Amino acid sequence: MATEPTSTESKKDPKSNGNGDDQSLGRKIKEGIDLAKNDPREGQIWTSVIRHKLDDSPRNRSLAVLSNVFLHLHPAKINRDAVRYGFTWGMGGISFYLFIVLTLTGVFLMFYYHPTKGQAFRDILYLRHDVPYGNLLRNMHRWAAHAMIITVWLHMLRVFLTGSYKPPREFNWGVGVLLLVFTMLLSFTGYLLPDDQLGFWAVTVGTNMARATPFLGHEGPFGPQMGMTAFNDVRFALLGGSIVDSNALLRAYIWHCIGLPIVLSVFLIVHFWRIRKDGSISGPAPIKLEHDFKDWAPAKA
Ligand code: HEM
Repeated sequence: MATEPTSTESKKDPKSNGNGDDQSLGRKIKEGIDLAKNDPREGQIWTSVIRHKLDDSPRNRSLAVLSNVFLHLHPAKINRDAVRYGFTWGMGGISFYLFIVLTLTGVFLMFYYHPTKGQAFRDILYLRHDVPYGNLLRNMHRWAAHAMIITVWLHMLRVFLTGSYKPPREFNWGVGVLLLVFTMLLSFTGYLLPDDQLGFWAVTVGTNMARATPFLGHEGPFGPQMGMTAFNDVRFALLGGSIVDSNALLRAYIWHCIGLPIVLSVFLIVHFWRIRKDGSISGPAPIKLEHDFKDWAPAKA
């Protein structure tokens, strides 16, 4: 049923949406445009990029650093206790550091390595004996890979021991499990690349396990019923054939140098983004200092 407008409503702008804000909003926008005409640093474009005042005060100088992504990649504020080595063991950070070392040394190794049966092992010998610092380069890659497997497991252990898999971090735990799988797969695919006896037999045994995959392996549960044979099952897809040979080497190389590093990097971005969104690292209960207590008084001598 229509009612008479009250005395206040009748004074409103007829174009108003009814909440009474339109006039003041319109005025503010107009004022903003006028100001911007005089000084572009007061305009919307400028203030949406530079979010602090420009006059030279200690506060503005620190805001200039804190709000700049290049000068301050890390969060401006963190829980003091959450980043203690005693709490994190630093293992997530060290795993990330090792991943960067692996990426850089891996790119340099690619300059000398050909993923073919005739060339691969020769390239390893060449790196070892002839390339300047080649042996150092190869061993940096190898040892960083061994270390990363250990640090990722230790990181997972610490996350478990501190109960950091619990809400709201259960999604990030899931992302972490995928990171662990990709790290292991990177290690496994790298194993074959020297094309030596060690790698050859390791990959022979490893991929033979894929024969027993349920549904997808020709020796696995329900595999034969799904029409799997040694020439069309998941092992065949991994090796690019029914034996560990040149196709397997090429596939391992492409997964190792392109596919897996890209996938792992994408999940790392999600992992780090989630840490921020979940309220930073979980951290122990905050340590209270004496003066945090209300009725604290300095001890008498
Ligand atoms: C490539 C491997 C990984 C990297 C580089 C990585 C990196 C990191 C970093 C830098 C942090 C910050 C805290 C810290 O350093 O401990 C973190 C936190 C976390 N990570 Fe990982 N991580 C990896 C794998 C994993 C795995 C395997 C899991 C578990 C399955 C996991 C689960 C978590 C969780 C739940 C947090 C939040 C912990 C908290 O808030 O206390 N991450 N990760």
